[in-house]
Amino acid sequence: MADTHTPVRWQSRRAFILAVTGAAVGLGNIWRFPYITGENGGSAFLLQYVAFIVLLGLPVMMAEIMIGRTGRAGPLAALTQLARDNGRSRQWSKLAVFGGLTLFLILSFYAVVSGWSLAYLGKSINGDFVGLAAADVGAQFNGFLQDLPLMLGCHLAFLLMTMLVVARGVSAGLEKLNNLLMPLLYLLLLLLAGFAATTPGFGEALHWLFWPNPEALSWQATLDAMGHAFFTLAVGACALMAYGAYMPEEQSLPRAAVAVAVLDVVVALLAGIAIFAVVFSHGMEPAGGPGLMFVTLPVAFAEVPGGSLWLSAFFVLLVLATWTSSINLAEPLVAMLVDKQWPRPLAAAVVGGCVWMLGVLAALSFSLLSDWHPLGFIAVFDGKTLFDLLTSIPPDLFLPLGGLFIAWFAARGLTTEQIETALGSAFMARLWRVVVMWVSIPMLLAVLLITLYRW
Ligand code: PHE
Repeated sequence: MADTHTPVRWQSRRAFILAVTGAAVGLGNIWRFPYITGENGGSAFLLQYVAFIVLLGLPVMMAEIMIGRTGRAGPLAALTQLARDNGRSRQWSKLAVFGGLTLFLILSFYAVVSGWSLAYLGKSINGDFVGLAAADVGAQFNGFLQDLPLMLGCHLAFLLMTMLVVARGVSAGLEKLNNLLMPLLYLLLLLLAGFAATTPGFGEALHWLFWPNPEALSWQATLDAMGHAFFTLAVGACALMAYGAYMPEEQSLPRAAVAVAVLDVVVALLAGIAIFAVVFSHGMEPAGGPGLMFVTLPVAFAEVPGGSLWLSAFFVLLVLATWTSSINLAEPLVAMLVDKQWPRPLAAAVVGGCVWMLGVLAALSFSLLSDWHPLGFIAVFDGKTLFDLLTSIPPDLFLPLGGLFIAWFAARGLTTEQIETALGSAFMARLWRVVVMWVSIPMLLAVLLITLYRW
């Protein structure tokens, strides 16, 4: 009996890890990680980011999955029911609403940048980068940002792709495709990092990424590293609770969380190595901003034999990875409306429509609306476009804030028995609680409060 069940169980454990990894791996790893590392002085950012993944991201990820696993439901229902059963305030359900708002804001810029990836897929198939020098690839990106029909068309196309899947209820077929193609993304990144090792800037890139450089430390780097640890793991907006609800009984939650975090960080590091090898080989600026990935990858692949084919393959895999992530961003929002008796297609259309409108405004931040600084009346946000604000405030402030409350609720709102059942052992439960109460929560509070104070 046990024997016949083993493969099935193993399959479903793997399926859980792959599904969460599919949600976690996306633009955060390949687009956002390199450019904010570049803006924050390399290792000064990267080493803090890894520390935050271990000390904050992982424990809060466990908290989030634990709440879903214990409540056996999506965010709103799980929080409402657990708060009621355990005699906590009903206000805790608002955490799911706050998470929804965060997901909405993130999705609005996520779809824009995913549209860029879609456009770059088309351009690479078209051979637009063949024979271009590094500087020309950069000029092409700047030109692309002004090409509104192409940029907005790709944005719309990507959003339609996402919302159609969500409108039909998340598709098993897509999940299978994701599980099949995800390993290919790793292989291609590995290949790229391998080729990077043959370029002249490789040593400098490694040094810059990994060798501690206390002079480059800044408060901004700390704040960005904390926010990005949450963003890359898709933690802090209650989006992972629904995954917990369907987690196989016998699966170890801590082990699954560690597996996801490792798989996620590896993608980011490989992408970072490949991208910064190009930056240092071609004397480019590490702090190249949100365009960094788009101006370096075509150059990186140009050095690989058969490069333009590989580049197209890479963008196919990237678009797929961002597709699964954006479905995971949209699904909790739509599910929340469906819970309120909205028909699913209508809910998807309304969410998609709102995300589209905000996204269009964000996309115009590089052309027509480049002088529009929506929060310019607050000193720290002066000079920031809508795109700048959306790519920084929700990931760097809202996700950690949500994470703080998620951690608190899991550690204080669940019973010891519930935590032990969710984490699989009394020892793990004790260890997790000590880390959350004495490390994660104080650290989160400290970074958030110091940030506010400095403003
Ligand atoms: N983790 C995803 C990425 O790295 C983004 C994401 C954030 C998805 C929050 C869901 C929730 O691309």
